[in-house]
Amino acid sequence: MENQLSIFNIEKEKLAKTNVVNVASVPQRSPFRYPGGKTWLIPTVRNWLRQDEKPKLLHEPFAGGGIVSLTAAFENFAQHISMVELDEDVAAVWDVLINGDYEWLANKIFHFELTSENISKEFEKENKSINDIAFCTILKNRIFHGGIITKGSGLIKNGENGKGILSRWYPKTLRDRMMAISMVRHKLSFMQGDGFSILESCKNEKDSFFFIDPPYTKAGRRLYTYFDIDHEKLFEITSKLSGKFMMTYDDTIEIRELAEKYNMEFRTIPMKTTHHIKKNEIILSDNFTWWK
Ligand SMILES: C[S@@+](CC[C@H](N)C(=O)[O-])C[C@H]1O[C@@H](n2cnc3c(N)ncnc32)[C@H](O)[C@@H]1O
Repeated sequence: MENQLSIFNIEKEKLAKTNVVNVASVPQRSPFRYPGGKTWLIPTVRNWLRQDEKPKLLHEPFAGGGIVSLTAAFENFAQHISMVELDEDVAAVWDVLINGDYEWLANKIFHFELTSENISKEFEKENKSINDIAFCTILKNRIFHGGIITKGSGLIKNGENGKGILSRWYPKTLRDRMMAISMVRHKLSFMQGDGFSILESCKNEKDSFFFIDPPYTKAGRRLYTYFDIDHEKLFEITSKLSGKFMMTYDDTIEIRELAEKYNMEFRTIPMKTTHHIKKNEIILSDNFTWWK
C-alpha cells in the first residue's frame, strides 16, 4: 500500500505547478483580509471555470472571504453564485452585503473614527443588530493580528510603519469594494449554514460547479472559530458530486491518503504564506483537462 501510494504521488508531482502567483496581479475584491484566503489561486480558478462555457451555477460552501464567488460574479463566469458560511460573524457581513443594507455598512466604515474608545463602544454594544455584528466583524478583521477574528485573537501591535490598529484600516477602499459588490449582488445568494448540507442537497446537479475550500487540517484551529470538520466525510460527499468540483487542501499525508482512498485525482501548486514561506497546496478535481 505504501509503495503504491508513493508511486501515485510521484506521478502527481510530475504534473505539479512550480511558479508562485504574484497576488498583486489579481484584483482584490473582498472586503475581508481572510486567513487562508484564495486570492493567489484565482488564475487557476479562472482556468477551472472556463472549462465549460455553458451557463452555470457556482456553489462556494465554505465561503470565508468569498474571493472566488466575487471573481466569478464580476468576471461573468457564472449565471448565479451561491455562497454558504457557518461562522455567524462572517455570515453577518455577507448577509448585509448581499441581502441587506450594504450602504449603511459601507458608510458606517467610511465615517468611523478609529480610536480605542470608539472601538470599545462598538464591541460593548448590547443587543447588536445584524448591521452592528457585520460592522464589528469588519473592525476585528482589520484591527486584529492576521485578520483572525476568533475569540482570544489580539490587536495588531506595531503593524505597517508602526501605525498599529490603523495599519489595515482603509475605509475608502472598503466602502468602494462594498459599493462594487452591490453592483453584482443580484447574481449572488448567501446563506448562513453548513457547507456539508449544501453539498449533500446539490449532489445531483450535473451542470453546477463547486469550489470547496474547507478549514485545513493543520492551521484551521488557529484561524477559524469553526475549524473542526470531518475531512473524510467531505471527501466522501465530494467524490459523489455529479457536477464539477475543485477542492483545495494543505499538502499532508492524511489528505494524500484520502485522495487515494476516494480515487480522486490531484495536483500540487506552490503558494507563499503570509510569512513568505513557500509551500505546496493540493488541488483536487473531477478532471484536469483545464489544468495549465
Ligand atoms: C479556508 S476558509 C475559506 C477561505 C475562502 N476560500 C477565501 O478565499 O476567503 C474556510 C471557511 O470555512 C468556514 N467553515 C468551517 N466549517 C464550515 C461548515 N461546516 N460549513 C460552512 N463553512 C464552514 C470557516 O468559518 C472558514 O471561513
